[in-house]
Amino acid sequence: MSVLPESAQSVSLSFPTGFVWGAATASFQVEGATTVDGRTDSIWDEFCRRPGAVVNGDTGDPAADHYRRYESDIELMSSLGLGAYRFSVAWPRVRPDAGPVNEPGLDFYDRLVDGLLEAGIAPYATLYHWDLPQTLQVEGGWTSRETPYRFAEYAETVAERLGDRVAGWMTLNEPWCAAFLGYASGRHAPGVTSPTAAVAAVHHLLLGHGLAMERIRAASAAPAGITLNLFPVHPETDSKADAETARRVDGLQNRVFLDPILRGEYPADVLADLTPYGLPDLIKDGDLAVIGAPVDLLGVNYYRALLVGSPTDPDAAGEPTEWIGAEGARFLDSGHPRTEMGWEVQPEGLAELLVDLHREFPNLPLYVTENGAAYPDELSESGKVVDHDRIAFLDGHLRASLSAIEQGVDLRGYFYWSLLDNLEWAEGYAKRFGLVHVDFQTQQRTPKESARWYADVIARNGLPA
Ligand code: NOJ
Repeated sequence: MSVLPESAQSVSLSFPTGFVWGAATASFQVEGATTVDGRTDSIWDEFCRRPGAVVNGDTGDPAADHYRRYESDIELMSSLGLGAYRFSVAWPRVRPDAGPVNEPGLDFYDRLVDGLLEAGIAPYATLYHWDLPQTLQVEGGWTSRETPYRFAEYAETVAERLGDRVAGWMTLNEPWCAAFLGYASGRHAPGVTSPTAAVAAVHHLLLGHGLAMERIRAASAAPAGITLNLFPVHPETDSKADAETARRVDGLQNRVFLDPILRGEYPADVLADLTPYGLPDLIKDGDLAVIGAPVDLLGVNYYRALLVGSPTDPDAAGEPTEWIGAEGARFLDSGHPRTEMGWEVQPEGLAELLVDLHREFPNLPLYVTENGAAYPDELSESGKVVDHDRIAFLDGHLRASLSAIEQGVDLRGYFYWSLLDNLEWAEGYAKRFGLVHVDFQTQQRTPKESARWYADVIARNGLPA
């Protein structure tokens, strides 16, 4: 049964020719080998060591041991017919500090890219998926205006080495999480709980994006852009108070990144909301021109929509929260089934988001760079993982993608999150998002039923009728 409204069910089930079919991972979540070939600590290595920070005390080792097993993982990708692989480069492998490039670390990505190309799989590289070198965190991390410049140097190094072979670049992955979970609520590394630090991180991440774009452009002809985690935001009622909460949440979650990057300015209302936290003082002459220079693509990570209500509890702002300027906002249940993360399954929100983005930024090619779900997958004795929930999730979101394409959206590709079960950040290894089951003791890979289903979709470039 389709979860989409009837109007969306009549779409053709084929995707456009050349549609990019991929799966995604991120360095810290899959690589393991955290002390190998000159890699130094990232903020996540440090964070994982803090008692209670990560469920079960899980750490970046062994993860899915992808650093050592990348060749057989590429074979696995081939067996699924993937046309593209989105991975991230670990900054602390490549340029652990302001010193020289760590060649053995960079060589890994060279081998990975060559291996992908030999297998006919297009490499899409993300330069920052949250693993900031700990040496830079000691200097203030993203609260420091120096960090964007270090990021640009590192980006240049990677772009010079891989730029002739990479199919697409993403500067940052989900800067919202890096800034607000990392520096406001402290649920992610580096575990800071300071609203002003989070706002500084927002601006410096954006500046890092802009500076890195310049360096990538100089070294590589491949299309480049950024990946944001975006959410349709709806108010609970049409009351003024709920509309105001929805405006603030949408501002903090979506527009604080979209507008500087794609319009070269912070939205006036968001600038006003974040003025008490020092945003205007952070913006130096020329920053917004750097941040707002054209991108070739926007990566959209979509997991769910947000239904919000205005605060009712006057004390709700007391706890550290990522919702600076919207403290106490209530996030409500809209009645959809939930994944193992507790996130509601709302495929229609993906179509809505893509259509809205296309309306706001009509000439911008879009990619779904992440979309996926964690479910309580069990490997049966006969060696199967029967994950019908994930198949339904995929089916719903691919139908939503088709519906958006049908409505004129220039959607170029879809990357399932994730290729492999991996370290789900502060949730540890227990939350499994993979198309491929990983036994973290033996590193045995087992494609789930969803992997076979997705392989079928890729092979026919469309959904089963
Ligand atoms: C977004 C992040 O980019 C990724 O690292 C994470 O694992 C997934 N969402 C699922 O939470």
